[in-house]
Amino acid sequence: MTDSFNEWTNEEQLTDHLNDERIVASTSIEDDEQLTLRPQYLNEYIGQTSLKEALTVYITAAKQRKEALDHALFYGPPGLGKTTLAFVIGNELGVNVRTTSGPAIEKTGDLIAILSELQAGDILFVDEIHRLPRQVEEVLYSAMEDFYVDIVAGTGASAQSIHYPLPPFTLIGATTRAGHLSAPLRDRFGIIERMNYYTHEELQIIVKRSATVFNSLIDDQAALEIAIRSRGTPRIANRLMKRIRDFSQVAKEDMISLQLARQSLRLLGVDQAGLDEVDRRMLLAMIEFYQGGPVGLRTLAANISEEQETIEDMYEPYLLQQGFIRRTPRGRVVTDKAYSHLNIKRN
Ligand SMILES: Nc1ncnc2c1ncn2[C@@H]1O[C@H](COP(=O)(O)OP(=O)(O)OP(=O)(O)O)[C@@H](O)[C@H]1O
Ligand SMILES: [Mg+2]
Repeated sequence: MTDSFNEWTNEEQLTDHLNDERIVASTSIEDDEQLTLRPQYLNEYIGQTSLKEALTVYITAAKQRKEALDHALFYGPPGLGKTTLAFVIGNELGVNVRTTSGPAIEKTGDLIAILSELQAGDILFVDEIHRLPRQVEEVLYSAMEDFYVDIVAGTGASAQSIHYPLPPFTLIGATTRAGHLSAPLRDRFGIIERMNYYTHEELQIIVKRSATVFNSLIDDQAALEIAIRSRGTPRIANRLMKRIRDFSQVAKEDMISLQLARQSLRLLGVDQAGLDEVDRRMLLAMIEFYQGGPVGLRTLAANISEEQETIEDMYEPYLLQQGFIRRTPRGRVVTDKAYSHLNIKRN
């Protein structure tokens, strides 16, 4: 480790600087760098193997028939590559991808305006599709099923319904909450796929690829260390990689070594299991104030000053998957694994 690194690593100062960008933050604002990190084609898209295999067949079949791909719904925790996949599918099909999101479409007119601009075969990507207003969703039913919308012109007795045909298109919906989707909407998707957490090996490949994009050199061991602490999530792997690149640059290290990666991760507050401050605060609150639970979501959220939705979407899925907490009918409980991870004896 060089002197400049040690000088700069006045921990408090650094942590402040680094906390400006929360590692597990949910952001949909993608900067230019983020765009270059995005794989463009299926063969660059790491992991999700069975999903990719199935999609390859559907895409090939649709191209052979010169038809639009069937509507597809991708669901799963944030940052696993749903948006990326929609663009990859667009590239594979050679069609335009228009993007919007559930909360952005407030009125049926907004949706009809978007639909009327589609060309045959285009993809309409709707992020957070579970948040579409009800009346907008109803317009989508006929658009998805038979490619038309009925537009009501005028009011009262003179109101007329106009049948407006649409070109065949593909709707790709993404959601972190499949359970919040209404049954009629869900039933109109021919392809419904769950996105899974990535393995350490897959994330290691993603980290190494991102390092190349950044013109950074990284040791295999260091890449694996970042992968292990990325909560199975490419977005987090890339974000950690970016921060560690800052460390290596300031330290004037040409190669990101395991030692540098570990030291940076410590300063970033990411522990060996990939848990961050909020995860630990949540587990500790459950242990200290509720003897390990059961605790209700609302109580817990208030206790650690986080939104319920943030806990449910971003923190809980990984803690559950890793077996640090369990869900019971009466609330969340902390497991023995969490106690030993935090080095706390159960009373
Ligand atoms: N399979 C993959 N291979 C390589 N990089 C990936 C892959 N999936 C995602 N990424 C990277 O992770 C980042 C986050 O992915 P993306 O924005 O597609 O996630 P998301 O599932 O849409 O998240 P959200 O639910 O928050 O909208 C992308 O910018 C991309 O760089
Ligand atoms: Mg997205």
